[in-house]
Amino acid sequence: VIDIGKLYAQTGMFTYDPGFTSTASCESQITYIDGDEGVLLYRGYPIEQLAEHGDFLETCYLLLEGELPTAAQKADFDYRVTRHTMVHEQMARFFQGFRRDAHPMAVMVGSIGAMSAFYHDSTDISDPHQRMVASMRMIAKIPTLAAMAYKYTVGQPFVYPLNSLDYTSNFLRMCFAVPAEEYKVNPVLSRALDRIFILHADHEQNASTSTVRLAGSSGANPFACIAAGTACLWGPAHGGANEAALKMLEEIGSVENIPKYIAKAKDKNDPFRLMGFGHRVYKNYDPRAKIMQKTTHEVLNELGIKDDPLLDVAIELERIALSDSYFIEKKLYPNIDFYSGITLKAMGFPTSMFTALFALARTVGWIAQWKEMIEDPSQRIGRPRQLYTGSPQREYTPIGRR
Ligand code: ACO
Repeated sequence: VIDIGKLYAQTGMFTYDPGFTSTASCESQITYIDGDEGVLLYRGYPIEQLAEHGDFLETCYLLLEGELPTAAQKADFDYRVTRHTMVHEQMARFFQGFRRDAHPMAVMVGSIGAMSAFYHDSTDISDPHQRMVASMRMIAKIPTLAAMAYKYTVGQPFVYPLNSLDYTSNFLRMCFAVPAEEYKVNPVLSRALDRIFILHADHEQNASTSTVRLAGSSGANPFACIAAGTACLWGPAHGGANEAALKMLEEIGSVENIPKYIAKAKDKNDPFRLMGFGHRVYKNYDPRAKIMQKTTHEVLNELGIKDDPLLDVAIELERIALSDSYFIEKKLYPNIDFYSGITLKAMGFPTSMFTALFALARTVGWIAQWKEMIEDPSQRIGRPRQLYTGSPQREYTPIGRR
């Protein structure tokens, strides 16, 4: 028997809130979302302005430090991140332990976790300087690990960072340069990917960020905490949705098939959902999805892709869904993942890399949230309660008498 009265007496208050839909787990000054209005602010700045005028490392600085950098601060920050892009050569040998066809997210979870063994000199989390060094290392090295995960799974040699390039161009080169050919980064694609990173940089207390905070609340190693967040992000209801959305568009195949899939999504007895639609917080158009849609057109234009059947399916699917009473009543709008897959595919990334790219960009949000939590004097270990619905107390029966 659940004694709610006793729980109330013990805690002063007891709420049962599956999925934490209405429970704030912390105070935060980093990201603001108004889901009804479709507003997203990083440290008070609208996502649209940051995506239009800034670059990803500027967003990283803003999320970590709370203010936009001056030109000198930005140059110093870029330089410090750049200095940390290499990973220890032993890490390359560590990679050889993965199956060659491993999913890049499995490799990311494992290799980011392994960084806790490589960089234990920067993990005195009570020291602000060491916290900052650990943060820099993660922002700088996770792109290198993501590119290595990609190269490993396609059987190509790793490409070392070239630090004369900007952050995102360097990442593109680490992914797509091959020894036999010259590789020149396309600035339009680099700018588009940089913008995609800005859009993914933070999103307040989503599942993976809450995982990082919960793991970090015990004082765990920060690299291990980011590995935990990466694992959480992998699921199709969260970061894995971009991969799932593209697979869905491919499965739909052509605009004539859309009504069949809309009907499936509305059928209560069918587990199918329109991937890239709906959001726990946005009950309006996801502001990131709008910027993403524009970026998709820019990338396809640059690559000279005139008729992309997947884009045709996506645009028509969005049009039909947004005029359907089921989606209108439930306030289901395209989220960021709806268009990102088409863009990343056009850039040359395989679907299995999509969530790894999301993890790369979200790393800064996770770290900023982790730092904020560690620096909060009211911080306590995260310890949700439960509503016990199991057996009441009973006597043990020896095995011979069961
Ligand atoms: N297609 C069809 N119906 C949907 C969809 C969808 N994509 N999303 C929600 N619904 C329906 C549900 O069946 C439910 O209907 P009911 O009230 O009749 O039971 C109602 O809308 C509310 O859905 P919930 O699952 O309760 O909403 P929740 O806030 O828990 O879930 C989520 C949000 C997980 C994003 C959900 O909309 C979903 O599964 N979407 C598809 C996956 C996806 O795109 N995820 C990416 C999220 S964004 C990100 O992680 C960056």
